[in-house]
Amino acid sequence: MSVYESELVSELVVEEREFAADGVLALTLRHPLGEELPAWEPGAHVDVVLGPDLERQYSLCGDPADRTAWRIAVLREPDGRGGSAYVHEQLGRGDKLRVRGPRNHFALRPARRYRFIAGGIGITPILPMLAAAEAAGAEWSLLYGGRTRRSMAFTEELSGYGDRVTIAPQDETGLLDLASVLDGLPEGTLVHCCGPGPLLDAVEARCPAGALHVERFAPKVQEVGQNTEFEVELARSGRTLSVPADMSVLDAVRGAGVEVLFSCTEGTCGTCETDVLEGDPDHRDSVLSDEEREAGETMLICVSRCRGKRLVLDL
Ligand code: FES
Repeated sequence: MSVYESELVSELVVEEREFAADGVLALTLRHPLGEELPAWEPGAHVDVVLGPDLERQYSLCGDPADRTAWRIAVLREPDGRGGSAYVHEQLGRGDKLRVRGPRNHFALRPARRYRFIAGGIGITPILPMLAAAEAAGAEWSLLYGGRTRRSMAFTEELSGYGDRVTIAPQDETGLLDLASVLDGLPEGTLVHCCGPGPLLDAVEARCPAGALHVERFAPKVQEVGQNTEFEVELARSGRTLSVPADMSVLDAVRGAGVEVLFSCTEGTCGTCETDVLEGDPDHRDSVLSDEEREAGETMLICVSRCRGKRLVLDL
């Protein structure tokens, strides 16, 4: 979808609020008038607007077939920037919450066999994927790690899947045994993984190319070249802007008064994805797959830049 088109912003009501683990609060959100909520598929997330400059992305972790309610789970992050503290300390039952989306950059790709790997709160997008894989009759397993058993959300829900799920708290079993899941991966198996950066990096290093699909909550550490100045032509607005070395494309575009959607500004949420009509993007996001980067058809304008002197964007 173009960033020109405004996404649906819903004002929802917090109907239930319960702890899914130590420090993890699960919220059930409904429309205040009981209206249907937008459809979504496993892997989707929403932007929750917590204040004028405070937005956070949370994966939908309920049942996509239930169009009357959305469930999100929020990990309390003592060193965070205030989003999780607000949800944990101030948001109560019956309070309203502005939510934008849903959007999905982590869709479950079709396969007959899946290996799911989740670390900590990374279980949230994986949870509905398991139900979808199960419903599709796929062969699957989940390796789920966390600091301690008590800190790991939704373990009770997962117990219904029996031995397809391996719960591996670090204080009991140490680091996740990725070799047991990834070595000798049968042909046609897809791996979907969500969790902290070091886990995703370790999985990436072990997984055959093309088999892995990840979602990152924090920007991936990557080597980038030096920033240079370049031009951006906005095809729809007929404007050409100069993007200085110390400015993002997003800031340049907004500075020119062109309205675009954005949220995280660090290349993780996918909100600012923009179609590229000409030019060679220098991808610096943590959202696009290698294939998508190679294709160069879209870019995340909050962080990505240009390899040459000029880009033409569908803005
Ligand atoms: S605003 Fe989140 S990826 Fe650009």
